[in-house]
Amino acid sequence: MIRSDIRSISAYHVPDSSGLIKLDAMENPYPLPDALRSEWGRLLSESNINRYPDADMPELRRRIAEREGVEADQVLIGNGSDEIIQMLLIAADQGPCAVPKPTFVMYESIAKWLKRPVASMALKADFSLDAKAFLSMCAREKASLAFLACPNNPTGNLWPRADVQQIADNFRGLLVIDEAYGPFAADTYRDMIARNVMLLRTFSKLGMAGLRLGYALGDAALIMELNKVRLPYNINSLTQLSAAFFLDHFEVFEEQAQHICRERERMAAELGTLDKLEVFPSQANFLLLRVADARAVFEGLKQAGILIKNLHAKGSLLEGCLRVTIGTPEENDRFVHALKELI
Ligand SMILES: Cc1ncc(COP(=O)(O)O)c(C=O)c1O
Repeated sequence: MIRSDIRSISAYHVPDSSGLIKLDAMENPYPLPDALRSEWGRLLSESNINRYPDADMPELRRRIAEREGVEADQVLIGNGSDEIIQMLLIAADQGPCAVPKPTFVMYESIAKWLKRPVASMALKADFSLDAKAFLSMCAREKASLAFLACPNNPTGNLWPRADVQQIADNFRGLLVIDEAYGPFAADTYRDMIARNVMLLRTFSKLGMAGLRLGYALGDAALIMELNKVRLPYNINSLTQLSAAFFLDHFEVFEEQAQHICRERERMAAELGTLDKLEVFPSQANFLLLRVADARAVFEGLKQAGILIKNLHAKGSLLEGCLRVTIGTPEENDRFVHALKELI
C-alpha cells in the first residue's frame, strides 16, 4: 500500500523537550509581551471560524510585499517555508536538486519523498562554499533547482555576497536563496531576486514558530506558476489574522532579534575562551560548536536539563559538532555553566 522507499525512511524526529531548557530548534526564546497577547487573543476570538480562510490573501501579501520592497504578486505564502520548499520541488523542471552539504535537511528529505534526485557537494572543512565547484556540479548533474541557505543551517555562516552572486548569475536553473536566519545576519541577498532567483523567508525564527508562516519572494511569473501547486486555504484563518497583527507590531520582534544577536556575540566570546572547544562564526540565532565527545556532552547537558542538537556523525564534516540555539541570557548562562563542567 505504501511505496517501499517511504517504508524504508524514518519520520522526522522531534525530541521530547518537556521539563528541559529548549535550545534545539532555533526558536526565539522570548514569549509575546503581555500587552500584545491580550489584544491578539481578542482579535482571534472575533475570527469567523465557520468559514474557510481567505484563499489568496491579497492583503497579507501586500503587507509582506510592502515590508520587503517588492510587489504583492511577487509574494507566495506557505505554511512555514517548509511548505514552499515542497511546492518548489513539486513544480520545478525535472532534474536534480543541488544542495551543499551539510545544509538544512528538509531540502533533501522532501526531494526524496517526491522521488527527485539530489546532487550535493561538500562544503570545505571551514564550511565555506566553493562557488565555482558548486556551479560545475550543477552543470555536470544538469540540476534544475538549487537551494542555498544564507546563513546556512546547521553551520551558521553566511557565504560571502560575491560567491552567492556568482552562483545567481551563472546557474541555469532556479536558485532559491533561503534567508530563514536573515533577521540575525549582517547582509541580505534580496537584491539578487531575478527571473530565476527566489528568496525564502520565515516568521518562525523571529518569535512566531507556532504560527507556521513562511513566504517566497520572486519574479511574478514564477510565483504565479508555484501558486498552482499551493493547496487551497494553506494558511488557516487564525494564522492569517495573527500574521497581520504581528506585522503591525514587527518592531517588537526585530528588537528581540537584536537582543539575540548581542547574546550570540557574548556567548561566542565566552565559549571562545575555552580550550577544549571550537566555536564557529555564526550570523544566525545559534552557534555551532565542536567538542571531543559530542555524544557525552549532549547527554550530559540533557541530564543538566538542557536540550540542544547533536549533529555528530563520525567521518562527516560535522564530526564532534553540537548546535545550540541562543536563548535568554539566563538560559545561555545555564548552558555555558553546564558545558564547562562537561568538556
Ligand atoms: C534554512 C532553513 N530554511 C527553512 C526552515 C523552515 O522554516 P519554517 O519554520 O518556516 O518551515 C528552517 C528551519 O529550521 C531552516 O533552517
